[in-house]
Parts: sequence; C-alpha cells; structure tokens
Amino acid sequence: MNHIPAINKATRSLHWIVALAMLGLLAMGFYMSKFEVWGLYELHKSLALLACIAIALRLFWRYLRPWQALPSKASPMMQGLAKWTHRLLLMSTLAMPISGMLFSGISGHGFGVFGLRLLAANPDPMQPGEVLSHNKSLEVLAQNLHEYFGYAVVALLLLHIAGALKHHWVDKDATLLRMLGGTSKH
Ligand code: HEM
Ligand code: HEM
Repeated sequence: MNHIPAINKATRSLHWIVALAMLGLLAMGFYMSKFEVWGLYELHKSLALLACIAIALRLFWRYLRPWQALPSKASPMMQGLAKWTHRLLLMSTLAMPISGMLFSGISGHGFGVFGLRLLAANPDPMQPGEVLSHNKSLEVLAQNLHEYFGYAVVALLLLHIAGALKHHWVDKDATLLRMLGGTSKH
C-alpha cells in the first residue's frame, strides 16, 4: 500500500462546504428563475451571502497554503486542464456572488441576510410594492452575467467531477479518496 501525503482537514472541510454551497445555490438559482418562484429569491440571496464567508475563508486559506498536487502520471495536457479547471472554479466562487449582488443592487431590489438589509431597495413612489431599476441596460448585463457564469460553472463542474471519477475508477489513484479524508492508495 503506497502512502501519499494527506490533505489538511481545514482544506478538505472548506472544499466540501464551498462545493455543497455552490451546488445548492446553482440548483436553487436555476429552479427559482425558470419557474419564477419569487418566494425563494430572498432565501437564495441570504444563503449566498452567508456562503461568501466560507468562500472568503477558503480563498484566504488557499493563498496561505498553495495546492499540493499528487505526483501524477498524467500527460502535461491533462495536468494543465486540471489546473485551469481548478483556477476557474476558484474564480467562479467570486464571479457568481459578485454578479448576483450587482444584479440585485442595480435592479433596485437590494439584498440582505435573513432580514438584515445590506443594500436597501429602491422603491417606486408611483407603484407601492414595486422597485425602480437604477440603470436598465446595466441591470440586464448583470443579469446575463449571473446566468451565463452559472452555465459555465456547470460545465466546469462536469469536467471536474468526471476528472475526480476518472482518477478513482480508471487511474485507480488516491486523488478522490484523499479529498474525502483517506490517505492510502486502493
Ligand atoms: C461532487 C462534487 C465534487 C467532487 C467529487 C470534487 C472532487 C475534488 C477532488 C478529488 C479534488 C482534489 C484534486 C487534486 O488533488 O488534484 C478537488 C479539488 C478542487 N475542487 Fe472539487 N469536487 C467537487 C465539487 C467542487 C465544487 C462545487 C467546486 C467549486 C465550485 C470545487 C472546486 C475545487 C477546486 C478549486 C479544487 C482544487 C483545490 C484548490 O485549488 O483548492 N469542487 N475536488
Ligand atoms: C454564491 C454563489 C451564487 C450562485 C452559485 C448563484 C447561482 C444562481 C443561478 C444559477 C441563478 C439562475 C440564473 C438564471 O437562470 O437566470 C441565479 C439567479 C439569481 N441569483 Fe444567484 N447565485 C449566487 C449568488 C447570488 C447572490 C450573492 C445574489 C444577490 C445578492 C444572487 C441573486 C440572484 C437573483 C436575484 C437571481 C434571479 C435572476 C433572474 O431572475 O433572472 N445570487 N443564481
């Protein structure tokens, strides 16, 4: 049995907390927009803003402790693909909340965390209960960014998960097990 370096518990926990948050928010976001479930919008924003705490911690932790790659037999092209997928996934954890906040802010809805307002809404004085957009074209741009970044993250995740499963089932190495807390090669 080959021994491989373990991944630090904080690194693993932060990966899985942010991963679950991103997967949940993606599913929730697509569901609520497609079926126009307005009641979920404030919950989506509150959960996403809370997830930003874990995202910030993760990025800071990653900066302190750069990723230690496993010694790999993969071709330079495959290693480059994995590296870029990781980089883009890390960037997506910033691009999604920033584009979401821009959209909610510019559209005049504002946002907050479970009732604690962080950015106030812009009420329409002519129509009680409605809000006024600060800038319609920027609002549409931010909305499109949030939506198309979402599709891009799904594509990256399919690649990422396929890569993890290939390591486990085809290469039979410990990449996935190590991320789950195991340290020995199966
Ligand atoms: C079922 C879902 C997931 C599985 C099975 C999975 C699996 C893994 C595995 C096995 C690694 C270690 C790769 C290595 O040692 O080279 C890894 C790393 C990584 N994962 Fe995931 N992952 C999942 C979801 C996600 C999500 C949702 C994100 C972010 C949006 C994400 C972002 C990353 C990043 C950025 C790394 C590189 C490590 C780092 O730079 O911090 N993963 N993942
Ligand atoms: C943190 C990660 C986040 C993820 C993964 C995420 C994901 C998504 C996705 C996939 C959609 C569906 C897009 C569409 O089909 O139009 C969506 C919609 C939405 N998100 Fe997020 N989101 C995040 C953060 C945020 C934040 C921080 C806010 C605001 C504070 C926000 C506000 C919204 C709003 C208002 C919509 C509805 C857009 C529409 O009706 O067109 N999101 N989100």
